[in-house]
Amino acid sequence: MIELQNISKIYKSINGKTDALTDVSLTISEGEFVCIMGKSGSGKTTLLNIIGCMDKASSGEYCLDAVNVSKLSANKFDRLRREKISFIFQKYELMSKYTVYENIELPMNAKRISRKEKKQKITDIMKRLGIYELRDKFPKQLSGGEQQRVAIARAYVSDNKYILADEPTGALDNKNTQEIMNIFEELKDDGKTIVLVTHDEEIAMRGNRIIRLLDGKIMEA
Ligand SMILES: Nc1ncnc2c1ncn2[C@@H]1O[C@H](COP(=O)(O)OP(=O)(O)OP(=O)(O)O)[C@@H](O)[C@H]1O
Ligand SMILES: [Mg+2]
Repeated sequence: MIELQNISKIYKSINGKTDALTDVSLTISEGEFVCIMGKSGSGKTTLLNIIGCMDKASSGEYCLDAVNVSKLSANKFDRLRREKISFIFQKYELMSKYTVYENIELPMNAKRISRKEKKQKITDIMKRLGIYELRDKFPKQLSGGEQQRVAIARAYVSDNKYILADEPTGALDNKNTQEIMNIFEELKDDGKTIVLVTHDEEIAMRGNRIIRLLDGKIMEA
């Protein structure tokens, strides 16, 4: 469970300070598919990064599965992220030197899984996402939609509970967008908790709850 209480984030730089989030309180239960909306600069990525343990809040309390994240050391903070969170970005961030298969395999290398089980799991998800035929290709040989499916397969095999996505369909056409959204729905049916940032109302309707941000504050949750 994701529990934020009075979370604020202030970015300080030589140009002054920006209140990116102000007093955000929010609970997301296991198995929910939540979409975050709001205009550019409203704090969506900042909120996702805090939820995903990529960044810490300036004040307030964040508990992830009853662990008070705000109080963790840097090491424990990083470990918590690795064990629980998978990120999917607008740009797919695949490793260019690795094949499709190797890219999907990467998050599994850190876990204690037999080689046979690993292969089985990767093969299954590649078939489900229609990228099995692409397994020996390199990222630059794939279309945007194909690359995004590889990124989703990689998040899936990590078997982390929380899948966070920042505009995952932002660079895709309508057909690929629909396909990717179907995959998110399947991941939800598999019991994953999904938090997805989008500008698109139609996409946001596919989740079961919309959180709207305006100037760093929650308008609707
Ligand atoms: N590293 C940073 N340093 C300083 N200010 C930042 C930093 N990151 C974000 N901001 C500011 O914080 C505010 C929220 O930014 P954020 O990236 O969370 O918005 P967003 O809703 O994701 O926008 P977009 O839809 O354009 O991606 C903005 O005013 C932005 O300029
Ligand atoms: Mg953003």
